[in-house]
Amino acid sequence: MTDTADEKTLYQQLGEGAGIAAVVDRLYELIMADDTLAPFFVDTRLPQQKGHMAMFLAAATGGPNAYTGMDLGAAHAGRGISDADFDRVIGHAATALSEAGVDDETIGVVAGALMPLRAQVVTGASVA
Ligand code: HEM
Repeated sequence: MTDTADEKTLYQQLGEGAGIAAVVDRLYELIMADDTLAPFFVDTRLPQQKGHMAMFLAAATGGPNAYTGMDLGAAHAGRGISDADFDRVIGHAATALSEAGVDDETIGVVAGALMPLRAQVVTGASVA
């Protein structure tokens, strides 16, 4: 067993900015090919969205914090996003990471880091 991986941040394990940008590109390909999710993004400027998502993920995985987008709660408020929608996006993220050669254990760590964001993103079932 080697222990070098333990010394790296999650951001480094994902290939830093370039690795995350590639995963985010693939993530939005999968989202836009998903008939359940694509309608949420009809009015979205995808290049800008991908940039914000990549910066958000860099900051969330121990990389540089250059995120300039909205607070996540505000960004998703009123969009009617359900728990199932959230799970679909996490599933596509896992697929994109796996395709990029990220190992299952690391994918689990990334998913674990995203799970606490559910409350800020899911706005479908509980808003009055
Ligand atoms: C952990 C999961 C998620 C993360 C980290 C995330 C992250 C983000 C970020 C960083 C933005 C950009 C905010 C800005 O530009 O100011 C955003 C916007 C958005 N997100 Fe999410 N998101 C997640 C899940 C979802 C889900 C499940 C949906 C819907 C199925 C969704 C739909 C949207 C939409 C529609 C926008 C606005 C895009 C636009 O500006 O047109 N997000 N999200």
